[in-house]
Amino acid sequence: MKKILIIGATSAIAEHCARLWAARKDELFLVGRDGERLGVMAADLKVRGATAAHVHGADLSHLGAHPFILDAAEAQMGGVDVVLIAHGVLPDQTRCEANLEEMLDSVHINAISTLSLLTLIANRFEERKAGTIAVISSVAGDRGRASNYVYGSSKAMVTAFTSGLRQRLHKSSVAVVTIKPGLVDTPMAASFKKGLLWAKPDDVAQKMVTAIDRRQAEVYVPSFWWAVMMVIKLMPHSIFIRLSKI
Ligand SMILES: NC(=O)c1ccc[n+]([C@@H]2O[C@H](COP(=O)([O-])OP(=O)(O)OC[C@H]3O[C@@H](n4cnc5c(N)ncnc54)[C@H](OP(=O)(O)O)[C@@H]3O)[C@@H](O)[C@H]2O)c1
Repeated sequence: MKKILIIGATSAIAEHCARLWAARKDELFLVGRDGERLGVMAADLKVRGATAAHVHGADLSHLGAHPFILDAAEAQMGGVDVVLIAHGVLPDQTRCEANLEEMLDSVHINAISTLSLLTLIANRFEERKAGTIAVISSVAGDRGRASNYVYGSSKAMVTAFTSGLRQRLHKSSVAVVTIKPGLVDTPMAASFKKGLLWAKPDDVAQKMVTAIDRRQAEVYVPSFWWAVMMVIKLMPHSIFIRLSKI
């Protein structure tokens, strides 16, 4: 039985991970800003088998609250084995180009708040010489594109940060798992027309839980995104610059 802290627990992808962990009788600590939804989720997860499902309300943009989230999870469960950081927003790229505040707000929640949590968790796990830290980044962080570089650059920061953190924590036996989903049919992407490249959140969650169990370094979910992004990353600048649609 593992003690798992899920930050951004109301995310559709995180909720499906929580269901898989509940079925294994893990103990869960759910953090999100919608207390009512967390309560409903916790009741459902207990029915699904979770040893316990605790809830903690927090707006993750308030960095000052981060140490208290970790303190509460450790106190309630008597320690934490695995952390999943899943919160995020998909900002409107065009509005961010025109509105500095909106652009910076999205960077704050997608990058800065994530880096704050990663730093605090890393220091605690490093001292204990144990633990797995998983964070949802995105394929969008692999190369900045005109259509969503505000979101993509925040995810690039998360990917680069976790790469360095993984190297730092390797000698302390702490695993850092960077998850890079492609297109996933969740509320975040509700306004998009769905097609062949789209994955369901339960499938993505299944692959994430396996990657977290295996303490893998970086995983594309579904895995074909590795090849797609390799093509995009290796595309010469002279061609890439003309492809305004991607
Ligand atoms: N869907 C995709 O295609 C896709 C692709 C690549 C990566 N991702 C990443 O996957 C992760 C999960 O997203 P999802 O697809 O599952 O979408 P989602 O269901 O919309 O989940 C996003 C979650 O972030 C939470 N959140 C946002 N700002 C917050 C704040 N200030 N404080 C607390 N919670 C906050 C939301 O809480 P509320 O419900 O309270 O708003 C929601 O639970 C995100 O990091 C996202 O960037 C998604």
